[in-house]
Amino acid sequence: MHVVRLASETDFDGWRRAARGLRGAAVAPSDVLWTVDGAGDLFGETEEPAAATECFTVPREFVEVAEQAVLHSSGERFALLYRLLWRLASEPELMHIASDPDVARARDMARGVSKAVHKMKAFVRFRLIEDAAEETYVAWFEPAHRVVKDAVPFFVRRYANMNWSILTPDVCAHWDKTRLVFTPGADPADAPSEDALEDYWRTYYASTFNPARLKIAAMQREMPKRYWRNLPEAGLIPELIQAAEGRTAAMVGQTPSEPSRRVVRQAQRLSRDGSFEEGAPATLEEVAAGVDFCRRCDLWRDSTQGVVGEGPGTARLMVVGEQPGDQEDLAGRAFVGPAGKVLNQTLEEAGVPRAEIYVTNAVKHFRHELRGKRRIHQTPRTSEVTACRWWLDAERRIVRPRVIVALGATAALAVFGKAVPVGAYRGRALSLADGAQGVVTYHPSFLLRVPDEQEKAKAHAAFVEDLKFAWGLAA
Ligand code: URA
Repeated sequence: MHVVRLASETDFDGWRRAARGLRGAAVAPSDVLWTVDGAGDLFGETEEPAAATECFTVPREFVEVAEQAVLHSSGERFALLYRLLWRLASEPELMHIASDPDVARARDMARGVSKAVHKMKAFVRFRLIEDAAEETYVAWFEPAHRVVKDAVPFFVRRYANMNWSILTPDVCAHWDKTRLVFTPGADPADAPSEDALEDYWRTYYASTFNPARLKIAAMQREMPKRYWRNLPEAGLIPELIQAAEGRTAAMVGQTPSEPSRRVVRQAQRLSRDGSFEEGAPATLEEVAAGVDFCRRCDLWRDSTQGVVGEGPGTARLMVVGEQPGDQEDLAGRAFVGPAGKVLNQTLEEAGVPRAEIYVTNAVKHFRHELRGKRRIHQTPRTSEVTACRWWLDAERRIVRPRVIVALGATAALAVFGKAVPVGAYRGRALSLADGAQGVVTYHPSFLLRVPDEQEKAKAHAAFVEDLKFAWGLAA
């Protein structure tokens, strides 16, 4: 029996070296025991793996899956990956056989790890240490898998100018504005429990909680209970759920956010006609579930979450913005920040009920640059707009609005698939390939930036006019 002792639970390089040697020396998976240094001397003497006698390459898909799966908390991962590596020698196409139990398990692990990285980015909550010499923040977090080292670059980028530590049971990460240091795992008691930030989170969460969109199962999928105990806002959830029914009834106008059965059927028919892209989402729920895990461009890396559209799945009018801003990225909802206030106000002035329209963005993740602690908006690149059209097109196919309003140049590029100068084309009905009418107008952020008061008033009036026009066209 060959016993391999890896340096740590996440020692991918060590696993790769050992696995190469073992496969090169034709050591069968059943003759190998994988363990981690310091995990107890359960296996007696270690027999070093034989040196490789043969050079071989492995498919890129295998390496990608292995790099992630190795971070999974399951004790079987090293052995499973070696079994796959062994089998690849005689089954080079193995990674493409989705029904193979080893392949399915490894892919499942890789998916679980990628999800855990995402959850860590979304659910770490820092607390201020009152008596530290310098302002310092500490968070306690229990990731589902060993993903701390994969997730911390995100926190370094986002909180570059703060001192912070993230404590977890396996490993702790500490950032002092210049250096990232890892230390062994900690105890929950090492993290502070309450401070003023808790109230901030609770207020913030309660204000973004939308009772009409309450889907308990989906919410628990997105915010699994295992994370609740370290989330200050989680204490509010039972109360908010209980109150949701009453609050929903009180809301002005109901806003069904799911497509009707007719729309779903239509989407499925389109699918059979071949005009519906293979694998494309057929419902708004599928869009919502997919956007968060989208890797069509790199914007997901620095954003908190993907933000999809909101509104009835049968809306006659769709309004498309550019991308979520800072507040939208945190809240996970489109147009809830300053631009959203302007949009709401102009919609009201134009007599367009927001509850009856579908509001979304051309790009679903927040493109920004960090300046100090602030995240400064950056216009999405054309390549990002093009990549994200897949989602906007899916929303368009599902909702099938009669009229689509593009707010600003980025939205126009996404809606029309080519640059449309807003100044020259605003306020007119333009034909779209899918039979809808397109209208381009200003972006609400533009109104916030016009320095001259008279010009601002003119732009505001034009924006109201354009929305009124679009609503009339959609009637
Ligand atoms: N700007 C946009 O274009 N969309 C939002 O959701 C917020 C600000």
